[in-house]
Amino acid sequence: MRDATPQTIYLSDYQPFGFLVDEVALTFDLDPHKTRVKSRIAFRPNPAAQEADFFLHGEQLKLVSAQIDGKPVTPKVTERGLTCDVPDGPFIWEAEVEIDPKGNTALEGLYMSGGMYCTQCEAEGFRKITYYPDRPDVMSVFTVTINGPHPVLLSNGNPVAQGQNHAEWHDPWPKPAYLFALVAGDLVAHSDRFTTMSGREVDLNLYVRPGDEGKCAFGMEALKASMKWDEEVYGREYDLDIFNIVAVDDFNMGAMENKGLNIFNSAAVLASPETSTDDNFERIEAIIAHEYFHNWTGNRITCRDWFQLCLKEGLTVYRDAQFTSDMRSPAVKRIGDVIDLRARQFAEDQGPLAHPVRPESFQEINNFYTATVYEKGAEVIGMLKTLVGDDAYAKALDLYFERHDGDAATIENWLKVFEDTTGRDLTQFKRWYSQAGTPRLSVVEAWDAGKGIFTLTFTQHTPPSTATLEPKPQVLPITVGLIGADGAEVAPSRVLEMTEAEQSFTFDGLDARPVASVLRGFSAPVVLDQDLSKEERLLLLAHDSDPFNRWEAGRTLARQSLLAAITENSAPDDAWLAAQRAVLEDETLEPAYRALMLGLPSHADLASTLHDAGKTPDPAAIHQAVEATRDAMAERFAALLGDLYDRHRVDAPYQPNAAQSGKRALTNAALALLTRVEGPARAQAQFDDADNMTQQLSALAALLRAGQGDKALAAFEAQWRDDRLVMDKWFGLQVSQAAPEKAAEVARRLTQHADFNWKNPNRFRAVFGSLAMHHAGFHHESGKGYALLADWLIKLDPVNPQTTARMCSAFQTWRRYDMARQKMIETQLDRILASPDLSRDTSEMLSRIRG
Ligand code: ARG
Ligand code: ZN
Repeated sequence: MRDATPQTIYLSDYQPFGFLVDEVALTFDLDPHKTRVKSRIAFRPNPAAQEADFFLHGEQLKLVSAQIDGKPVTPKVTERGLTCDVPDGPFIWEAEVEIDPKGNTALEGLYMSGGMYCTQCEAEGFRKITYYPDRPDVMSVFTVTINGPHPVLLSNGNPVAQGQNHAEWHDPWPKPAYLFALVAGDLVAHSDRFTTMSGREVDLNLYVRPGDEGKCAFGMEALKASMKWDEEVYGREYDLDIFNIVAVDDFNMGAMENKGLNIFNSAAVLASPETSTDDNFERIEAIIAHEYFHNWTGNRITCRDWFQLCLKEGLTVYRDAQFTSDMRSPAVKRIGDVIDLRARQFAEDQGPLAHPVRPESFQEINNFYTATVYEKGAEVIGMLKTLVGDDAYAKALDLYFERHDGDAATIENWLKVFEDTTGRDLTQFKRWYSQAGTPRLSVVEAWDAGKGIFTLTFTQHTPPSTATLEPKPQVLPITVGLIGADGAEVAPSRVLEMTEAEQSFTFDGLDARPVASVLRGFSAPVVLDQDLSKEERLLLLAHDSDPFNRWEAGRTLARQSLLAAITENSAPDDAWLAAQRAVLEDETLEPAYRALMLGLPSHADLASTLHDAGKTPDPAAIHQAVEATRDAMAERFAALLGDLYDRHRVDAPYQPNAAQSGKRALTNAALALLTRVEGPARAQAQFDDADNMTQQLSALAALLRAGQGDKALAAFEAQWRDDRLVMDKWFGLQVSQAAPEKAAEVARRLTQHADFNWKNPNRFRAVFGSLAMHHAGFHHESGKGYALLADWLIKLDPVNPQTTARMCSAFQTWRRYDMARQKMIETQLDRILASPDLSRDTSEMLSRIRG
């Protein structure tokens, strides 16, 4: 429901709550439309608080009764909560409310999915379950009783009693309400055990709907690997007797770290070789790790308020990235993360949704679960580690856990442990948390042949934004190595610490002018402008010892070749193609790395580069240039690709590990190109022979792109129509592989499919996420993509504001395009904004995007 006046919350207004909560007891009598929730909460005045207004959050609750110290009271109830006169000292609050889980389509609070009850409380969903101070700095010990006719009844902590249609749970670790969870249903468990570093036995269960038992083994292995890794790398041990994970089909995000009871979108945990791709497996492993790691970075140490979200999310993303690097290939993981950062975070940071890693105001906190908070938040931690070094990082983290265990902490607390361990002053570094915008870093070189001194002069500049009017210079760790003309490294990696707007660094003792490999490992999340010649980039592509920068040299050459193709219609650059061939032929390089080398910058990346250069991107021209370049690569490399395809085919039984999936990534990248020159036979054969989803789906994609996929598509549907996760792929792929002029029409047609269950976020995203990501299709000059997405956002908003609001970001780059497109988008934005009762989520997003 639209608020008459949307309220803005400010970080600077933070006040502690007037009361402490000593303990909470909740009793649930489950019923689809009339669930009763009884609460018994022990409050006492908070000595640290200024004001003592007794306000409890509560939304969409029917208050049945309320008592203080056993005597009935009549609180003042509004749409947002209640107030009540309370005694001066400690007191017991008791209330009974009625809620409607089945009517809860927003998937926030207690809701039903596929016949089971489940919850999602982060950030502010607990207030839809009962009246409570629903803020992360109010931490308490919870005891939960669940009554209902379901074989499985779960909540946080350890089980204390289990009976017929009855269960009691006790969580000894004080926690904020956003970590509360409840699950009830007819579920089956895939179970295992883990012995912690101190010898404690932990029961592990992955609960799924009957029929999904075969998709649990991988998630369980990933969980055990995560538990072990956190002990070995961070010294963090698990702290309950039981750890439960539940898979849920209807879920707005990926997963949730509720204490001892993680709840996952089934797409983020269920996996089998037949139904999941290699990318799915890797993502699932990372999300399981992410949620598990939250037990320490998020739960044991939580956030004081929602402005501090990056405290737990940036750190936990950083930790899960370290985990994936250790499990798989660090270079491949880093390159993938940077591709993703540039696609999602840079777009956000350079558009109307720009906000600091720690925002200073919001209307709806759910709109700030962003790439900036998560991924840039993780980059900031990576920079901190680069600056202080690995040993100091480890010491600082030990101090963080020691000092803040049990706290609801802030970014100030976090930075202070680094200051105290290293003696550094992090005042300037803190700008990474307070300033929005992507810094532009340019570098010029000077060579003094007589003295053998090479100087790099850097200039940094962050474009101002509404969020940050006057950005100041940031602390930039710039990792640099130098390469000689023969390709040998003449100066190993060194971290230059830039703090000024302009700053020079010298390298001496050199015999000849080197080539600078700057920003190795992408050591800071900036846009680098380094004026290297093509020959210098070719040298880096051939020889850089830093795998990230070696890939980056190739990517820059590819981008330059594509930009020339877009603006001058020129043919793909010969020298780049020749250098790329040499990399592809190099059998000492990992297949996964070579697969990345075959990739091209995305359409959106090219559009952004054109926009930066003061040009207006034409999505059709970009599409044409990318297609022509791929055709040229296919023709030119045909023999080599055929060779790679044969040489790296996996004959062994399917394993989702890094080695095998790297080979499949390379052979499938080859297949996509080969299909352009050879026709569909090879792809059809792979489709027919496939015994795993990676092979099947890659072949289907190649066939669809070639316009030869109809038969395979029908076969795929017949084979998988009962598997909802595989059907999401079926829906998504048809849109993403459609020709630009057909994409919107394909999406529209799919919305009429009997299985287009649009209230399911995964299904909605399969169609509309794919449409929004199809650059040339979404931005087709007909405007049909814009109109179709707007139609469906209008339809979804009253049902599920969170997912609607997130999807609005499809429009965030709209000012980059020509006036005709801007007009069409503006019309759609205004049409959505004009819908009656637009949610707070969506109206905040659209008003920020519209500007
Ligand atoms: N804390 C969860 C995670 O990062 C994300 C949950 C956010 N959900 C939401 N509705 N805002 O793993
Ligand atoms: Zn998280």
